[in-house]
Amino acid sequence: MAKVYDQDSARKFLASQLTNHDRADLDLLDRFDRWGSDLISALGQVYGLDTVLDPLLAVLLEHHSTRHAKLRNRDRARVLQPDWFQRAETIGYVCYLDLFSTNLKGLSKRIPYLQDLGISYLHLMPILDSRPGENDGGYAVANYRALRSDLGTMDDLRTTALQLHDAGISLTLDLVLNHVAMEHEWAKKAKSGDQKYRDYFYVYPDREIPDRFEATLPEVFPDFAPGNFTWDSDLNGWVWTTFNSYQWDVNWSNPEVFCEYASIIGNLANHGVDCLRLDAIAFIWKRLGTNSQSQPEVHSLTQALRAFCRILAPSLIFKAEAIVGPAEVGAYLGEGEHAGKVSDLAYHNSLMVQIWSSLASQDSRLLEVALGRFQGLPSTTAWGTYLRCHDDIGWAIDDSDASKIGVSGHGHRMFLADYYTGRFPGSEARGVDFQVDASSGERRTSGSAASLAGIEAALESGDPARIQRAVDRLLCGYAMVFGFGGIPLLYMGDEIGLFNDHSFLDSAEKAADNRWIHRPAMDWQMAEDAAAGRLGHSIAGQIFMRIRQLASARRRLESLHASLNTRVRSATEQGVAIFERNHPAGHLIQVYNLANAERWVGTHELGHLHGRVVDELTQMSFELNDGLTLAPYEVRWLRRG
Ligand code: GLC
Repeated sequence: MAKVYDQDSARKFLASQLTNHDRADLDLLDRFDRWGSDLISALGQVYGLDTVLDPLLAVLLEHHSTRHAKLRNRDRARVLQPDWFQRAETIGYVCYLDLFSTNLKGLSKRIPYLQDLGISYLHLMPILDSRPGENDGGYAVANYRALRSDLGTMDDLRTTALQLHDAGISLTLDLVLNHVAMEHEWAKKAKSGDQKYRDYFYVYPDREIPDRFEATLPEVFPDFAPGNFTWDSDLNGWVWTTFNSYQWDVNWSNPEVFCEYASIIGNLANHGVDCLRLDAIAFIWKRLGTNSQSQPEVHSLTQALRAFCRILAPSLIFKAEAIVGPAEVGAYLGEGEHAGKVSDLAYHNSLMVQIWSSLASQDSRLLEVALGRFQGLPSTTAWGTYLRCHDDIGWAIDDSDASKIGVSGHGHRMFLADYYTGRFPGSEARGVDFQVDASSGERRTSGSAASLAGIEAALESGDPARIQRAVDRLLCGYAMVFGFGGIPLLYMGDEIGLFNDHSFLDSAEKAADNRWIHRPAMDWQMAEDAAAGRLGHSIAGQIFMRIRQLASARRRLESLHASLNTRVRSATEQGVAIFERNHPAGHLIQVYNLANAERWVGTHELGHLHGRVVDELTQMSFELNDGLTLAPYEVRWLRRG
């Protein structure tokens, strides 16, 4: 193959190889003209172009030649409508496939259920082949080119993706790119002494370098996986294992690793995947003397992968799973030279934490300060907003934010962990501690949304008023997730308020990791009854109907398009949060009472909204004079009538 080291020669090389001269070939060249410079400049920041460009172009051509005509049509449609994922009608659902529908065939039968809920984006939690036994919920991938055998085959994946597309649903899968299972073929070859594959990992003969790194590295799972390195006798060395000892970190400073992942991405794209969730993306670059998270190279690598996809399969987008501090997360949607060139979506961890925090403290001042930071994100990106996911909640309260409202960050984090495990007097939450930080005593929390919101405890009390309050509390939180802008991600089972599930304690593989407490199997009897309206005003019936109402209100409101940031307005009364969407398509003011008592909000706080107004949630119109009284946990989405 000819040697290509810059954009011009790469372009000429591609043109010489694309001999069909059909529309698909011409489109690819057009896209290379548009995005090639992003690819080449980012690669050049990390690798020598002479080492990476030749093999990468080979990967590009291989996957281009096998891309299905239907997916090429999808590419064209999305080039014409690049904001498809930012639109108000994009509503997400996240589930473990086995817990939701047993396998991919079962999923086909559940598509109508998802459509009825208004879902147009589906994230199936890890389905690629993982190591047997303990596998971190599938995040220890043993083979990127096969599915877990009980879930289906790669052909089933292709079929399912097309079925979802026909149903108006985009498919998201995880791309675990910080580590592989120690059973992955690369790790096996490294163990057998193959130097090429040993260089795919970080392996050290003794503790000298690991100890120097450890001096500044945090621990992700201090309770059940302490330390960041694991001795492996076959390797005769210490291998980097940020997460569990069976998850080996791959070495992204090796250009061959980059090309391997480009090929894995090409293969998933060609199976119809629409979005890749870049798992633990913050960790992929290591630097001595730092915490080895969010290093500048992470963003160059993401830009290179993103540009590669824009050229090969522009219908595919990236979602960054960067659970990092509020000051760092913006970089994952692109800052400075990477603005608009990295991930399209990123989780809004801060919003999630602030919702739970405000509900616990019945005070929204911290939320106002913390969310005030997030201005000026690239207009082509969107948040993934959520209340719960499959992971624990880390109480990511920024110390300087806390001090602005006169509280201690540490004190508030301790309060939240106490509150959500029910230790705090008066709390009805039923979470459990997940990992304790030995030096600070701070803890993270596991638990399902309904159990954290207090529904489980209220139900046991048998007090209807308490039950109703807890249901309203949960829905107030979910209303913020749906109203903020960005893709709201409904976590499986939350639509019927599933409680904590303690059955994981019976499984040897799961018992040590209590994140399984909030990964219950879907209760289909309840879900089907709820969807058919057979549950009336019961807990599940009410939650389901109100979530569906949130989804349909959202779909009507163009002003929730993610290209525009939500402004958080100041409220006078403690516990009231006001979100403003000042969009040309319509002005929307959302009011949330996060307190367990009545609150008043005046029209001056509502951007002088007064006179005839419509509440988009109920579609009722009414006269707004001086202001309005909000019942505990009441939500209003208001526009001029
Ligand atoms: C991500 C996943 C989490 C997993 C970790 C390691 O944070 O969400 O479940 O344990 O990555 O892969």
